[in-house]
Amino acid sequence: MSSQYDTGLLVLGSGPGGYAAAFRAADLGLDTTLVERYPTLGGVCLNVGCIPSKALLHMAKVVGDAEEMADKGVAFGEPKIDLEKLRAWKEDVVSRLTRGLAQMAEKRGVRVVHGTGRFTDPHTIEISRGGDETAEISFAQAIVAAGSRSALIPGLPEGDPRVMDSTAALELEEIPQRLLVIGGGIIGLEMASVYVALGSAVTVVELLPRLMSGCDADLVRPLQRRLSRSYENIFLDTRVTGVESLKAGLGVSFEGRKAPASDVFDRILVAVGRRANGLDLGLDRAGVEVEDSGVVGVNSQQRTNVPHILALGDLTGEPMLAHRATHQGKVAAEVAAGLKTAFEARVIPSVAYTDPEIAWAGLGEEQAKNEGRKIGVGRFPWVASGRSLALGRSEGFTKLIFDPETKELLGAGIVGPGAGDLIAEVALAIEMGADAEDLALTVHAHPTLSETIGLAAEVFSGTVTDLYLGRRSPS
Ligand code: FAD
Ligand code: NAI
Repeated sequence: MSSQYDTGLLVLGSGPGGYAAAFRAADLGLDTTLVERYPTLGGVCLNVGCIPSKALLHMAKVVGDAEEMADKGVAFGEPKIDLEKLRAWKEDVVSRLTRGLAQMAEKRGVRVVHGTGRFTDPHTIEISRGGDETAEISFAQAIVAAGSRSALIPGLPEGDPRVMDSTAALELEEIPQRLLVIGGGIIGLEMASVYVALGSAVTVVELLPRLMSGCDADLVRPLQRRLSRSYENIFLDTRVTGVESLKAGLGVSFEGRKAPASDVFDRILVAVGRRANGLDLGLDRAGVEVEDSGVVGVNSQQRTNVPHILALGDLTGEPMLAHRATHQGKVAAEVAAGLKTAFEARVIPSVAYTDPEIAWAGLGEEQAKNEGRKIGVGRFPWVASGRSLALGRSEGFTKLIFDPETKELLGAGIVGPGAGDLIAEVALAIEMGADAEDLALTVHAHPTLSETIGLAAEVFSGTVTDLYLGRRSPS
């Protein structure tokens, strides 16, 4: 313990960013206190985000795969859903991980304090534990990792449990007959997949003219084609103008291209983005600047404008992804320990765990076009991948984006089953400055989906033999 302060390093928030920061700091010998308002560690990601959603998406995959085998000669009966058992399994997955975190905190000597923290000056935080019970902790340095929460839209009925955010939707209270998902982004589409598998008739309403506008449109097309077969409706370019609590359900009025003027749904999931929690933490009293959006600005060392207070993860804005938070957490801890380090990742991959999955990293084709940047593209369609066909799927593709002069890999987009795992090779290649030859000459095992990365590089280089692209002159 440092002499002047109660703790050397205070970490506020125990999500993937906060616990990584606290654990790395303790490993580096800092006297570390981790403050978390909820009873379990792990933040949004472990408790109500990445992990429970992926457990339920696994269920959705099994249901979908079983259905698809019917026209290949193996038919199963209709799935019988035991919601209580499914919920218990999901909760077990989560609690194994959160218990593991608590054990690791203890082993490392990280002091865990449960309570809601608010800064009262640049070196003090007040912790409230409900009622009038408060305590103060003074710190030499702090890492703020307080994350984000679901954004809301105006005009929704208050206190009606049939209007859900992602946390409520993951609780699986019931299987609604008709579910409306407001927002066609990653959360909306992942949760829609879960409820379709459970048997709900799902409608998605999206304000913009396309689903998942964060990545290239060609990557979304195979997903949208598939979803339009399993969803009741997808309304693009459409606004929800009002929601009314009725006895029979939620009356929703729409304004948009193809949507009806109104309809009634059993439940609604609102998934219209997330808001950083920066305005709730008393950071002004510590002198830390916070944007109106709740985002806290940081430099590449994760330092805020107050150098002994660092911040990371969702609190620092987009992209709001767990792996970004974790990496920033380690950097923040190392900076607090006096190491010369910075967050300098060239790319942060994004994955939508839909079916098919969509994964992308680095420069996108549309981004290059908007920036007037010249690129070369190597695209390998999975209809020519034996492994993809053996999985009963042919709609995917792998697209690599190169610098046309140096042939360096700049970005990639992959759509198809397992795309989320394949993007790792691309991220490593970009970090290492690999070019098309490096990828094309790396021997990929056959038959794997990973081959499509080497093959896409071969398409760009003109050396591919698994496709016929027309005769080329020898080079
Ligand atoms: P958080 O995980 O938000 O943790 C912040 C912590 O701070 C929380 O535990 C909170 O209780 C605590 N806290 C806040 N204020 C206080 C306070 N005043 N006092 C004490 N404690 C406080 N990302 C991915 O990369 N992959 C995915 O598959 C994925 N799936 C997701 C699915 C859903 C449904 C959701 C909602 C999100 C998903 N995300 C996913 C996003 C991911 O969860 C976040 O990017 C990640 O959790 C951010 O980590 P963080 O450490 O910045 O903050
Ligand atoms: P998002 O920003 O990805 O998508 C929200 C969508 O809602 C957008 O397409 C937006 O145009 C639309 N929208 C906004 N207002 C609307 C309105 N009034 N009516 C209809 N549509 C409206 O946000 P989402 O899906 O809530 O996810 C938040 C963040 O959580 C993601 O950006 C990501 O950072 C993280 N996340 C990551 C996951 C992953 O990595 N697999 C999974 C889930 C979440």
